[in-house]
Amino acid sequence: MNTLRVALDGPAGAGKSTVAKRVAAALGVAYVDTGAMYRAITWKALQKGIGLHDEAALNEMAHTIHIDFKPQPERQAVFVDGQEVTDAIRTFEVTNNVSAVSAVAGVRDAMVKLQRDIASRTGVLMDGRDIGTVVLPNADVKIWLTASVEARAMRRYQEMLNKGVECDLEQIKADIQRRDEYDASREHSPMVKAEDARVVDTTGMSIEAVIGEIQAICRSAQ
Ligand code: C5P
Repeated sequence: MNTLRVALDGPAGAGKSTVAKRVAAALGVAYVDTGAMYRAITWKALQKGIGLHDEAALNEMAHTIHIDFKPQPERQAVFVDGQEVTDAIRTFEVTNNVSAVSAVAGVRDAMVKLQRDIASRTGVLMDGRDIGTVVLPNADVKIWLTASVEARAMRRYQEMLNKGVECDLEQIKADIQRRDEYDASREHSPMVKAEDARVVDTTGMSIEAVIGEIQAICRSAQ
């Protein structure tokens, strides 16, 4: 297996997971969606009625939760303690609460440890907010994937419409901006571009073009 380690970071809705899945498969490395891990904890906290500012309870949960990824033909299925939550972690409720949960230091410590464990065993393409800065500061390739907030909101909007979910473009844009601000201003591991990351601005680019560019950057590092 390829031992390359790729850190792919960037703001909400930049298309990281769509691109990451395809590039990881082409490179023959594992794909780890770290946002799904923070979403999984948020989903479980909501299920259990744990207060999203109850740091002790969230910390305890983050250290005992079992999160599994199972690659499927069209997507990567996510399981929490054996229960499939692939769609459940993408609801508005989880999306609007995940930043508060992921700002808790103990939650981050537990997730970073799991993420580093995975990367110590296999080549990996990991997407998130702090991969190039905190999780894998020595990654072979670091990419900061971004796009204008308008373009990101429009993609989310169309994704939701395709799933048959009714939504409002301006509301999605406001939610994305609020989440970015929260993620970028938190005390522990804020979302920030690693100094040595290559910036790929996908505004106006097709998915195929973005995949081609990221693949070329990764291949040139091998
Ligand atoms: O990537 P996605 O939008 O699914 O991430 C959901 C949330 O998880 C982000 O808004 C952020 O609060 C958190 N996150 C994080 N660190 C990561 C990945 C995601 O704090 N490495």
